Amino acid sequence: YTKIIRLDPLNFSIDQLQEAVDLIKRDEIVAFPTETVYGLGGSAFSETAVRKIFKAKGRPSDNPMIVHISDLEMLSSIVKTIPEKIRKLCERFWPGPLTILFDKSDKIPDIVTAGLSTVAVRMPSQPLALALIKTLGIPIAAPSANLSSRPSPTQAKHVFDDLQGKIPLIIDGGSCDVGVESTVIDVHKGFSVILRPGGVNLEKLREYLPEIEMYREKNIDKLDEYSPQSPGLKYKHYSPKAEIVLIEGSIKFFEEKIVSLYSEYRLQRIIIGIIHTHKNIQISSEILDDPNCKIIYLGSLDSKTDSDNSINADKIAEGLFSTLRAVDNQKIDLVIVEGISDKKIGLAVMNRLRRAASKIIKE
Ligand code: TXA
Ligand code: MG
Repeated sequence: YTKIIRLDPLNFSIDQLQEAVDLIKRDEIVAFPTETVYGLGGSAFSETAVRKIFKAKGRPSDNPMIVHISDLEMLSSIVKTIPEKIRKLCERFWPGPLTILFDKSDKIPDIVTAGLSTVAVRMPSQPLALALIKTLGIPIAAPSANLSSRPSPTQAKHVFDDLQGKIPLIIDGGSCDVGVESTVIDVHKGFSVILRPGGVNLEKLREYLPEIEMYREKNIDKLDEYSPQSPGLKYKHYSPKAEIVLIEGSIKFFEEKIVSLYSEYRLQRIIIGIIHTHKNIQISSEILDDPNCKIIYLGSLDSKTDSDNSINADKIAEGLFSTLRAVDNQKIDLVIVEGISDKKIGLAVMNRLRRAASKIIKE
């Protein structure tokens, strides 16, 4: 049995979090909202709790989780040192969707970091998440609250769909604002890398860390000797049951691909989905009128004004995972998705889509 407690992030009292606090103190696990996605949390000091998290999600035990804190004092207790450069980043970006790697202290059990010597830490800005950690007085270890490999949950009902009966409590704080997970970074002496793009943009980070690069870019030769990669990178992710074909290129290219892919796949008598991100795309009436073809509009990119993703790409990020989940609810077998530019939050959106796609077609 999974209980759901509905709370308003802008108007709640600490008493209303007491049940969650008590559960976590007893080494139980609780799903809670953050500004990025819902997390499935337990005490970061409890091996028992962390084992329950891995089990409920079906998560491979070599994939470490993020430790969530509510203030910098908590940070000091779980890491060996806080380098000056990183302290500045914490001050600028916390609370918020940025996760930073630190050398872990002995207080964090190895199971949390999957045996790595580093621990990933972030301070969420969602008021319910912050209050939960603060009231508990203990950092919370939490991965996203989805079944492993499914799209991350951005609403309590997504958590319920994946984990009902497996966890005692979900705190429902409504929809998550950012909609994609936090940016995970590793800052070293000589270089800084983004292990996972997310809620904080590369462009924003560059203002503070001009040298920062996406991990895996071939031009960083220093990275050859960089071994502690993010284990999460190797797993298939974010996937609905439907097959995803991602189209990267101009709007014209996308329109052409819709026509050719539609005529190819229609013969297989499957349900086809088309997810478009730009407002005004041309789709023939044959496709529009086909009951076995579902057109889904994600976000509201306008090709004339949003070429640098500065206006409405945030909306696409916010709706991305619930749209991928909706694809399954509509029994779509194959979905053709219009990619967006890698600028700003687009980098995180495209990272998720590329990893969910079984086929990518580039112009
Ligand atoms: O926004 C978020 O980050 C959400 C909310 C709940 O905070 N959490 C989240 O956690 O997305 P999860 O477990 O789904 O993703 C954490 C990522 C994984 O790719 C994992 O491999 C990486 O962070 N990670 C965790 N600890 C690490 C470490 N010590 N070194 C390298 N990568 C690490
Ligand atoms: Mg996850």
